[in-house]
Amino acid sequence: MQRILVVDDAEVNREMLYHMLKGEYEVGTAEDGEQALGRLQEYREDMAAVLLDLHMPGMDGFAVIGEMERMGLVHKIPILIISGECSAEVENRCFELGVSDFIRKPFVGSIVKNRIRNTIELFTCKNRLEQKVEEQREALERKDRIIRIQAEKLREAKAFNKLMLEYQSAILEVETRLKSLNAEFSQEYKRNPFESIKSRLKSPESIYEKLERKGHPVTVESIREHLTDVAGVRVICSFPDDIYRLAELFIRQDDIILLRKKDYIRNPKENGYRSLHLILSVPIFLSEGKKNMKVEMQFRTIAMDFWASLEHKLKYKKDVDNAEAIVGKLRACADSIENLDYQMQEIRNEIDRAKGRNGAG
Ligand code: GTP
Ligand code: MG
Repeated sequence: MQRILVVDDAEVNREMLYHMLKGEYEVGTAEDGEQALGRLQEYREDMAAVLLDLHMPGMDGFAVIGEMERMGLVHKIPILIISGECSAEVENRCFELGVSDFIRKPFVGSIVKNRIRNTIELFTCKNRLEQKVEEQREALERKDRIIRIQAEKLREAKAFNKLMLEYQSAILEVETRLKSLNAEFSQEYKRNPFESIKSRLKSPESIYEKLERKGHPVTVESIREHLTDVAGVRVICSFPDDIYRLAELFIRQDDIILLRKKDYIRNPKENGYRSLHLILSVPIFLSEGKKNMKVEMQFRTIAMDFWASLEHKLKYKKDVDNAEAIVGKLRACADSIENLDYQMQEIRNEIDRAKGRNGAG
């Protein structure tokens, strides 16, 4: 049987509530604030609810709530105020202090019982939910700790560092080829096919997390086989047609193999994400000979890149208020960006045509 505590200086109230509730609960009574606190200290969370009178000589109901707050019990035990008439002001103050509900005089057995039952049920649900959230948070923290420890182990492993060096070489290889193309374009056509390059090696934390998530072993062979984005090169272009021209030129190089292509420009993602992704096999040349490494290339315009960095922030931020509205706004921005990119490209074409006509080419 659940235990509840009735705190009231009027004996008639204590008696009435005691008899009303004794069939369903183990009812304890207290005739003043001090006695109530004594009981609460004894039983703490074992108390399913407290029925509390506000007006008592000595320590009144508000003081009892204050003490319960200090003991950390207000969020653990529901408080129902026993009251006759009370002003909206008093009622509001009670709710602000964490009171759950009111039991009004004269007491009607069925209403009193229902109110107490509902309040206890609601509180139990709320507490269970809070506990679940807390457990999930702890599980996430544990996972984070494991990832950090395992990543540290990877960092110390010789074979892993050698592999990272190979991926780094692949990035350099791709960057060099991009720069050569850029130099050639500058000289031949007086323009640059891309604005900038951003390269990155996947962190050991991220490598470990991804392999674990996908159920693969965490070994050097497994990284080679299952991960395609350890070496990442992002190419930021001014115009959409530069993206396709550059990607084409790259794939055509006879020692580069296209393993996979995802065209999120022609087929944007649901959230509005646009970029051209290529997974390439790129040769590197080390002292022991030639090796093929996987590299993930992402091609996007300046505007698409601007969009993706902002959207990325949303993805990795927890507790963003009205995230749904933001998703909608981002989606709309992505569409505007597409529009803008093609308009800019059209203007550039017009300028080029005019230059051609004037022989300024
Ligand atoms: P990952 O496991 O995240 O690497 O994705 P994937 O293997 O399904 O490949 P995909 O080609 O879809 O994405 C590769 C990379 O593109 C991601 O790691 C991100 O860097 C980027 N990307 C993909 N989708 C989005 C997106 O919706 N928003 C942003 N900001 N970046 C994205
Ligand atoms: Mg990735």
